[in-house]
Amino acid sequence: MTDFDTFKPHLETAQPQLLQYLNTFQNAKILVIGDLTLDEFLTGQVERLSREAPVLILRHEITQQIPGGGANAVYNLAKLGAKVNVVGLVGKDAQGEALRQIFQASGIDTQGMLVDPSRPTVTKTRIAGHARQSVTQQIVRVDRKSDQLPTREIQMQLAEIIQAQLSQVDAVVCSDYGEGVLTAPVIEAALQHDRVIVDTQKALHRYQGATVFTPNLPEAEQAVGYPVQDNAFLQRAGEDLLKLTQAQQMLITRGEEGMSLFSAQGETQHIPAFNRTDVFDVTGAGDTVVSALTLALCAGASFWEAAILGNLAASIVVRQFGTATTSVTEMQEALATLLEDVSVL
Ligand SMILES: Nc1ncnc2c1ncn2[C@@H]1O[C@H](COP(=O)(O)OP(=O)(O)OP(=O)(O)O)[C@@H](O)[C@H]1O
Ligand SMILES: [Mg+2]
Repeated sequence: MTDFDTFKPHLETAQPQLLQYLNTFQNAKILVIGDLTLDEFLTGQVERLSREAPVLILRHEITQQIPGGGANAVYNLAKLGAKVNVVGLVGKDAQGEALRQIFQASGIDTQGMLVDPSRPTVTKTRIAGHARQSVTQQIVRVDRKSDQLPTREIQMQLAEIIQAQLSQVDAVVCSDYGEGVLTAPVIEAALQHDRVIVDTQKALHRYQGATVFTPNLPEAEQAVGYPVQDNAFLQRAGEDLLKLTQAQQMLITRGEEGMSLFSAQGETQHIPAFNRTDVFDVTGAGDTVVSALTLALCAGASFWEAAILGNLAASIVVRQFGTATTSVTEMQEALATLLEDVSVL
């Protein structure tokens, strides 16, 4: 019997409640404080070799721009129907404008997106080429980012924007990709809300007192300082992370193994991945988990139910290339399909 078969009865029991929570996702107001990234994909057809240098010349076909990093969490929340306010930094450049336009087209409030002329909008540009009738292949990736923290003045400005919005939102999500938005004053302001969900690549201890954290396994291992080789180590890591952060709950996402939820009361629950086949691209799945988990909590779900909905949402986006989003309708359908016939997944 697979993990999922063992888990299925729990899912069956929870289904009516889960469907109810999904129906109220649209009522939630969420403030996301994040390191905003733009993912760019430039694709062209190979024409010939250059005479200037031994390189390919591509004929440009299409440029796609998709929210990445913390911007992916913002976008995921909006596509799940939430009312989203974003706080973060972009540069004074076309990429920052593109991100703002994508957000505004989805009804996201971008007033808290500050322009810092001294830094570029964090951008990851993939250049990919294909010959006639051949698969597209990435050739090079060009990253734009700053290694400097924003000035003290900008940090304080961000903190003020957060403070002004706290009373109007149901939850605060911190999406920290280590790009400089989440400095001490910003975190301090965020933590004044009583429902704070933290997804950070590093330094979980800086968010002491937040409600729930969602590290992936490598992030959890880095934070505790030892490899998680088996279930005993996993349990120990969960407990150590709860001590380190003083959080109510710790949700460790474990890729194809699903996720494990540890509570400050000493309870541990494991949720298997809901689909093991048709996994095309797991990029950004963590952002999707955070988004669905947050909206479920706002809907009144328990942490366990919220984790299940996070897992469900992730099982949908891993079927799509690049960072992706899902919707309440897709989640309802996926839940029904899961309970109907597992073999189709
Ligand atoms: N290979 C996989 N097969 C099935 N489900 C997966 C797979 N990888 C990820 N998932 C689902 O996505 C969830 C989050 O994945 P993961 O732990 O890789 O997050 P992450 O590393 O934070 O992602 P990212 O940082 O790219 O957003 C998992 O808990 C699981 O539900
Ligand atoms: Mg992640």
